[in-house]
Amino acid sequence: MSQASTLHKINESVIGSVSRLKKIAITSGKGGVGKTNVVVNLGVALTGMGMKVAILDADYGLGNIDILLGIEPQLDISDLLKDAAALEDIMIEKNGLLIIPAGSGVQSLTQLSEYQEILLYKELKKLEKMADLLIIDTAAGISDNVISLLLAADEVILVVSPDNTSIVDSYAVIKVAAELDAFKSFTVITNMVRDEEEGTDVFLKFSRAVKKFLNREVHYLGYVLKDENLLTAMKYQEPVLQKFPDAACSKNFLQLAGELKKRVEQMEPGPAQKFRLDF
Ligand SMILES: Nc1ncnc2c1ncn2[C@@H]1O[C@H](COP(=O)(O)OP(=O)(O)OP(=O)(O)O)[C@@H](O)[C@H]1O
Ligand SMILES: [Mg+2]
Repeated sequence: MSQASTLHKINESVIGSVSRLKKIAITSGKGGVGKTNVVVNLGVALTGMGMKVAILDADYGLGNIDILLGIEPQLDISDLLKDAAALEDIMIEKNGLLIIPAGSGVQSLTQLSEYQEILLYKELKKLEKMADLLIIDTAAGISDNVISLLLAADEVILVVSPDNTSIVDSYAVIKVAAELDAFKSFTVITNMVRDEEEGTDVFLKFSRAVKKFLNREVHYLGYVLKDENLLTAMKYQEPVLQKFPDAACSKNFLQLAGELKKRVEQMEPGPAQKFRLDF
């Protein structure tokens, strides 16, 4: 199926229709650029600033949020879609964060039956009362699955690292979103940079290409330094911000979270609801 022919279906994302919940998707063109670390550390920082943050782990790959936080979910969204578990059953609270494991269920999210759509909607609606913000950790790349999660979000954060492949692949994400006529508010975080200047250079290289070839604007949230402390914290299965709060990259995460909090506070409620059920 072409990207264009799946547009209708992709637009009807159930997650997107939970309209009173603010949603940010964190994604990247290529893998391994630091999405999951950004998700978790921004989540911890925002929690410290008084927000209640839920995280949807929507990357059905190895070594993601479970490993980073040292949790072992037994249930996930696929159980919810089988009507075998409720949101409270699959959710895990860790470091003040509410983690929702998507597990293998993430692959079904673009092909739900009507019954499953209602089930998922009913369960996710509960989040409106439990959390101020949902952060979605997506897989890398431009599969329908990822695009549907990007469309569900109020804002998309693209994590870009200094290597050329990351910049080129990030461009592809914006291009697909633009072609689907579903351009979101895109914000860039540069990660694993040497210094502030390299972060700015990477952003400018990227944003100039986006402007020149796609005539779109992207916003810069800021940078995270390449920092050994992050690797050490990962070995302890703890977010670096918690394990080493004074580390250089931890200060970057705090700064980014401060900026992000301002943006979240200004977010308008999401798009019109698809479902008009009263629960
Ligand atoms: N700021 C940083 N400083 C040093 N190393 C980093 C930093 N950010 C990420 N890394 C390294 O990059 C690796 C990948 O990070 P992470 O798992 O967060 O990326 P990801 O984009 O979620 O990957 P995937 O696409 O596989 O889900 C980490 O294991 C770590 O080695
Ligand atoms: Mg990841």
